Amino acid sequence: MRKSLLASIAFLAATPLLAALPKGWVGRETCATCHEDTAKAFVAGPHGRAMAERAPKNLLKLEGSALDLSCESCHGPGEAHANDPSTTNIRTLKGASTREASAGCVLCHAAQKEGLAMRTPAHERAGIACLDCHVSGHAAPAAEPLLARPRATLCTPCHATEAAQFALPYAHREGTRPFECTSCHSVHGGTTVRGRIEEDGQQRCVTCHTEKAGPHVYPHPPLAVDGCAACHRPHGSPNPFMLTRPSTTQLCLECHTDTPSFHDLSQPAFRSCVSCHEAVHGSQRDPKLFQE
Ligand code: HEC
Ligand code: HEC
Ligand code: HEC
Ligand code: HEC
Ligand code: HEC
Ligand code: HEC
Ligand code: HEC
Ligand code: HEC
Ligand code: HEC
Ligand code: HEC
Repeated sequence: MRKSLLASIAFLAATPLLAALPKGWVGRETCATCHEDTAKAFVAGPHGRAMAERAPKNLLKLEGSALDLSCESCHGPGEAHANDPSTTNIRTLKGASTREASAGCVLCHAAQKEGLAMRTPAHERAGIACLDCHVSGHAAPAAEPLLARPRATLCTPCHATEAAQFALPYAHREGTRPFECTSCHSVHGGTTVRGRIEEDGQQRCVTCHTEKAGPHVYPHPPLAVDGCAACHRPHGSPNPFMLTRPSTTQLCLECHTDTPSFHDLSQPAFRSCVSCHEAVHGSQRDPKLFQE
């Protein structure tokens, strides 16, 4: 089915000025003669509106007709069905697996498909598909853009572990702190939301914590090399400052096993490393990180 759809589109691409629909297609108007309410609701809904307003001129090489092609992009060519309506000669998509039901999306959204494979390859490998996070546009979305659930719970059905970490004593939470997964993760590279395209964790952190970004004259290597997650748990932690270890001292000593001998670690004064080495995120003035 998918193959023949793609073949039809390839055929279209080769004939840019073609006014007719691909072979076996009848177009939205024809579907609407029998599915009037469904078609009307789709056109008036968020996906129909987005298509009407923002369809690129050369989409499918048929100017301005994303809407006309939309029904059959998702449901498959409908000529046979229109001539002899039944539920067996059209892709009903009801109860289909999300992957099957999402096959049509990529005809128009190749970039998102590519983005998904590039930015969260584990999603691609696990068969996570468009309709695991989005709705088709027949029903009202829970949130923009066409999201199946509100942002705060979009990912939790599958990522209970990460979601639960946000309940730990130290975490970004509701209020001033970002707690939605999409504050830091861009699953397939957003272009319309906040216009951010970078993905890696550290860059996400420093869009808000700009003062930690550097560049520092005297950087602290773990930050420069491994990013924030070298010392912080991004989703939450039982430890103050969302650190990976229960105490700062323990964290520092894990890497700095041989501090200069005058560091008498039996004395409390020396055990609080950051009371002297304040600039753990890097310093502009001081190679030993005494001040920022
Ligand atoms: C001549 C009238 C007619 C036309 C034209 C028509 N349909 Fe249908 N369609 C029907 C009827 C009647 C049914 C219900 C068949 C049944 O229940 O056995 C149906 C069923 C469907 C279903 C399954 C609905 C369900 O409840 O599972 C889908 C999806 C569908 N049509 C999509 C389309 C699309 C897309 C087009 C345009 C390409 C289209 N139809 C054109 C009459 C039509
Ligand atoms: C983005 C993909 C997509 C587009 C575009 C689309 N549909 Fe659907 N359609 C679905 C999916 C998925 C379902 C299964 C129910 C659901 O998830 O909403 C469905 C269900 C249906 C149904 C059965 C349920 C109902 O509401 O009656 C009909 C009929 C239907 N579509 C017709 C159409 C027609 C006509 C168009 C064009 C105006 C269209 N669809 C455009 C994906 C799409
Ligand atoms: C016939 C072409 C076509 C098909 C098929 C199609 N889309 Fe779209 N979709 C568009 C166009 C055009 C836009 C508006 C421009 C854009 O945002 O890329 C759009 C917009 C969107 C948006 C952004 C909506 C917003 O409010 O900003 C989402 C999300 C989306 N589509 C998801 C899907 C999913 C999921 C599927 C498959 C179930 C799908 N699309 C199938 C053409 C299509
Ligand atoms: C339908 C289930 C499902 C949904 C919804 C889902 N994920 Fe996933 N996600 C998975 C699976 C399965 C994996 C692979 C897990 C593994 O390999 O251990 C994964 C892996 C990931 C990874 C690791 C990526 C990589 O390539 O290593 C990240 C990051 C991620 N998901 C973030 C998110 C975010 C953010 C959301 C919400 C916007 C989300 N996921 C929604 C199922 C889902
Ligand atoms: C794991 C969840 C998830 C999956 C899977 C997913 N999306 Fe999205 N999508 C989102 C989120 C969240 C946004 C909003 C952008 C953001 O916040 O990063 C979005 C935004 C979009 C947009 C708006 C334009 C943009 O890029 O921001 C389109 C179009 C879109 N998705 C289409 C698709 C298509 C097509 C697929 C399947 C190939 C898909 N999405 C798979 C979560 C998902
Ligand atoms: C404050 C930013 C931030 C927020 C909010 C956030 N993450 Fe993450 N997430 C990260 C960073 C950074 C990493 C990489 C951690 C590392 O390299 O060890 C990551 C890694 C992941 C991974 C991969 C884990 C692994 O073991 O490979 C998954 C899955 C994930 N996040 C899901 C989620 C989900 C689901 C949510 C929402 C409940 C969420 N994240 C919210 C920053 C964030
Ligand atoms: C969208 C903005 C945003 C992003 C992205 C973000 N943060 Fe935050 N972060 C905040 C805000 C706001 C606070 C609260 C500041 C306050 O209370 O003064 C905060 C607080 C913190 C704290 C202090 C926690 C405490 O217990 O006092 C740490 C540590 C932290 N963030 C680390 C990170 C790391 C690591 C990342 C990336 C994985 C990150 N943040 C991403 C906005 C952000
Ligand atoms: C070498 C370990 C290390 C790395 C790497 C690191 N941090 Fe920290 N961070 C700490 C320690 C230790 C504290 C607690 C300082 C204290 O006790 O005063 C802290 C505190 C914080 C705080 C809260 C206090 C403050 O200074 O505002 C924020 C926010 C923060 N870190 C953000 C980040 C971000 C963003 C990154 C990545 C760009 C990062 N950290 C990388 C060790 C680290
Ligand atoms: C993940 C490993 C790691 C952690 C955790 C870490 N550091 Fe470092 N630190 C390094 C590395 C690597 C260097 C580069 C110099 C070296 O090899 O000793 C460095 C350099 C330094 C320097 C400058 C040393 C010099 O020779 O100029 C100081 C001071 C320092 N760290 C203090 C701390 C403190 C205080 C903490 C705890 C908040 C800490 N570090 C946590 C890896 C780490
Ligand atoms: C009372 C202040 C003080 C405290 C507390 C302290 N340091 Fe230092 N640290 C110093 C001084 C002074 C130097 C030497 C600076 C110089 O050589 O110019 C130094 C140097 C270092 C160096 C650089 C060694 C080198 O080869 O140059 C490291 C690494 C370091 N300290 C780690 C730590 C760690 C880890 C802790 C916590 C267990 C800690 N310090 C606690 C004052 C302190």
